[in-house]
Amino acid sequence: MISFRLNGKSTALEAPPIRRLADVLREDLGLTATKIGCNAGDCGACTVLLDGKQVCACLVPLGQVEGRDVATAEGLAADGALNELQESFLRHGAAQCGICTPGMLMAAASLLRSNRRPSRDDVEHVLGGVLCRCTGYRKIVDAVLDVGSSLPSISPKAGAAVGTSIAKLDGAAKLTGAEKYGADSFPADCLWLRTVRSPHASAGFTMGSFADLKQRHPGLVTVLTAADVPHNAYGIYPDIKDQPVLAESHVRYRGEAVVALVGDRAAIEAIADEEVPIEWHPRAAIMEPEAALAPGAPALHAFRPDNVLIRGFLRKGDVVAGFAAAKAVASGSFETPFVEHAYVEPEAGYARRVGERIEIFASTQTPYMDRDEIALIMGFDPSRIRIVPSACGGGFGGKLDLSVQPLIALAAWKLGRPVRWTYSRPESMRASTKRHPAKIQARFACDGAGKLMAVEFAGDFNTGAYASWGPTVANRVPVHATGPYAVPHVLARTRAIYTNCPPAGAFRGFGVPQAAIAHETLMDDLAGQMDLDPLEIRHLNAIRAGDATATGQGLATSAGLAQCLDTLRPHWRAARTAAEAANRHEIVSRRGVGIGCMWYGIGNTSMSNPSSMRVGLTRDGRLTLYNGAVDIGQGSNTIIAQICADALGVPVSALHIVMGDTDRTLDAGKTSASRQAFVSGNAAKAAGEDLRAKLLRLANVGEGAALELGAGQVILREGGRALTVDLAKLPALGSEGDVLIGEGRFDPPTTPLDADGQGIPYATYGFAAQMAEVEVDIELGSVKVSRIVAAHDVGRAINPQQVEGQIHGGIAQGLGLALMEEYLPGRSENLHDYLIPTVGDMPEIEVIIVEDREPLGPYGAKGIGEPALIPTAPAILGAIRHATGVRITRVPATPDRVLTALQRQAAE
Ligand code: FES
Ligand code: FES
Repeated sequence: MISFRLNGKSTALEAPPIRRLADVLREDLGLTATKIGCNAGDCGACTVLLDGKQVCACLVPLGQVEGRDVATAEGLAADGALNELQESFLRHGAAQCGICTPGMLMAAASLLRSNRRPSRDDVEHVLGGVLCRCTGYRKIVDAVLDVGSSLPSISPKAGAAVGTSIAKLDGAAKLTGAEKYGADSFPADCLWLRTVRSPHASAGFTMGSFADLKQRHPGLVTVLTAADVPHNAYGIYPDIKDQPVLAESHVRYRGEAVVALVGDRAAIEAIADEEVPIEWHPRAAIMEPEAALAPGAPALHAFRPDNVLIRGFLRKGDVVAGFAAAKAVASGSFETPFVEHAYVEPEAGYARRVGERIEIFASTQTPYMDRDEIALIMGFDPSRIRIVPSACGGGFGGKLDLSVQPLIALAAWKLGRPVRWTYSRPESMRASTKRHPAKIQARFACDGAGKLMAVEFAGDFNTGAYASWGPTVANRVPVHATGPYAVPHVLARTRAIYTNCPPAGAFRGFGVPQAAIAHETLMDDLAGQMDLDPLEIRHLNAIRAGDATATGQGLATSAGLAQCLDTLRPHWRAARTAAEAANRHEIVSRRGVGIGCMWYGIGNTSMSNPSSMRVGLTRDGRLTLYNGAVDIGQGSNTIIAQICADALGVPVSALHIVMGDTDRTLDAGKTSASRQAFVSGNAAKAAGEDLRAKLLRLANVGEGAALELGAGQVILREGGRALTVDLAKLPALGSEGDVLIGEGRFDPPTTPLDADGQGIPYATYGFAAQMAEVEVDIELGSVKVSRIVAAHDVGRAINPQQVEGQIHGGIAQGLGLALMEEYLPGRSENLHDYLIPTVGDMPEIEVIIVEDREPLGPYGAKGIGEPALIPTAPAILGAIRHATGVRITRVPATPDRVLTALQRQAAE
């Protein structure tokens, strides 16, 4: 029996003293605010206080807490009210996905116990061991510094929510631990599942009998192999179902699942992989696109004998003539690596059989697509699958692909018992999709005034062993290859190439961040050749309303790059002047200032990607927004509610939210491609307007009537009149008890691209320009980013605080791409070898929101998720070049690469 005080209460339990405290808190005591992101002391998600000091609960054996005080995030709020630290987090928008939030709160609480007025350095020091992949840390630090402030929270009146920074509607749940992520909620009688994965990048295999294994491990209930999977092929695209749930006779990447073991947790965890009777026959692996394309290279998939999954192509004008007539030409080769999503929440969930249906509770970005894929795999009609998304502890594109869902569904179906599964961190890093590595060659040409005349672009993307989102990348990149500039002559080619690497998939930007590194470096080259300022050459070429894009699309209205550059100009001039002055006296530590611009098509490329929303009103006056868009931390639960509430004419607080449940919401499409604000926002606006119109009709009042919800009635006020709609008299509609329902649907108006890549791929585009200031130690090659000013045209900021938060988080990921992140297959399988930015890596950030309203957008909104990241790496690379003169064309710009470039420059 081990006794200790837990959140101020005496606690005693019978458990082996060697068990991890994190497991005991979560599994035995049900305190799931303590998260497990790595189980290895790397992420800090499990941070709790032990005698008032922060510790990683995953590293503390239970025996060590005997007689001591343990505090978790559940103990912070008293009597259901947030404490002042939690209040400050809520007010500052410091929680995005929220998975790191309890750990951050506990780390901050350890500091505030001894220091009520800490400095920024104190706060950054104490938070240094807790990783956040969403926020860029700035709002978390600000929240800790602002504890005790009496600033009131924002609660706008009916019809005035859009444009205000209301707190996240689901924020309090993230701060108290009430929010349930994929591993936090499960039936008590769940079995566990784990997989055996390939240790080889390419191998054939044979399996023996599992009878011995079952005999040795009585808690092992069943073993699943490919033979158990009804339809063993899935994939994002309807015509490319190339990925098996379990490999059949050979594996195509290290980490591919081969066998699933289902049983008691202790039993299946006790089974060593080597015990499972699999005989491996390793083969030579193809790890690089060049090897995959070499004559005679074996095909990874029979349907693509040349290993080219897909080609993207775009041609506009006459690129040969464009280059021939140019005054200056810049060219270069660029290389980017695999990048890991590193969401703090590993893939997790459970499934259960309910009669002839399967229900899956899991972390996902795309419930309806999951439903249809599981139906395909199981051979069921989609109506027999229910997806209930858990809170999503970060996705960034990585949870657009299936992970735990197929095998827990299959196991639960076969066994008639619920089955749960949580990836370990190494499993997540081995098996999940990555950002596509790119090898790009490009040329940009301009005339004597610096106006762009021609662009030629060729990009090869290593798509790994399976297609995943490779076609999306190959098709999106040519459209964006020019950067956000007007160019009359364009030729762009891309290829997604199969290799024996982990599948590359969707990751914030779908290939555009890689392309931006190329186009922004070449813009700097042209500026140098033409003796133009880097900002001014971009301003000169910025695509504007009325210009035609590379696909021939005339940009009708919102195109705010020039405004972004105008707002950036004073910062740019001051920073460039200051850096150049400082460098006159400093030899070792060189300062530099760079600029990066971007554009990004909102929504899926040239395809229908509708969203539908429903809002219902019950007899007792309860309003519910049935919102099928999954909030992955970016805040769609809040901003979609803001839009719907304004359309309806009620305060946001009147809305209850149901998110993502495929039995209770309509299909809002994927949370990807920065589409939810624009696409689902429009659907929610239409749903709100529909319900409002029905109420106005029932009361026979005009458009301007004010609407007031009461118990069992709605009062509509117009002029001096007050008319009442008696809800009790209305018949119930549907299964939710609603008596009035508003529905809305929006599908962005696009057209297919023709054989030359001409058409209307997106209804609208986001634009941005970011400026980075860096210091480069030319003896060490190390780079410190000191400041970023980010100007973003988002159309309309529905919630400016959340827009800022997205930009901060995007900058953090862009900084990682530029300076430190490189996933090496077979080597980067934990968070101490694969480094992501910590609070100490983050620069000062100034955000400038430019609102060039999009007439098609809900209240003018476009989107911000992906645009936030894209310009950061180019701006940092430009700043390194300004500081040192070296042109880095391969990221990450690690100290060894920068140093090598400096040495090469010195030798020339
Ligand atoms: S789960 Fe404990 S440090 Fe990551
Ligand atoms: S909010 Fe920190 S990891 Fe998502």
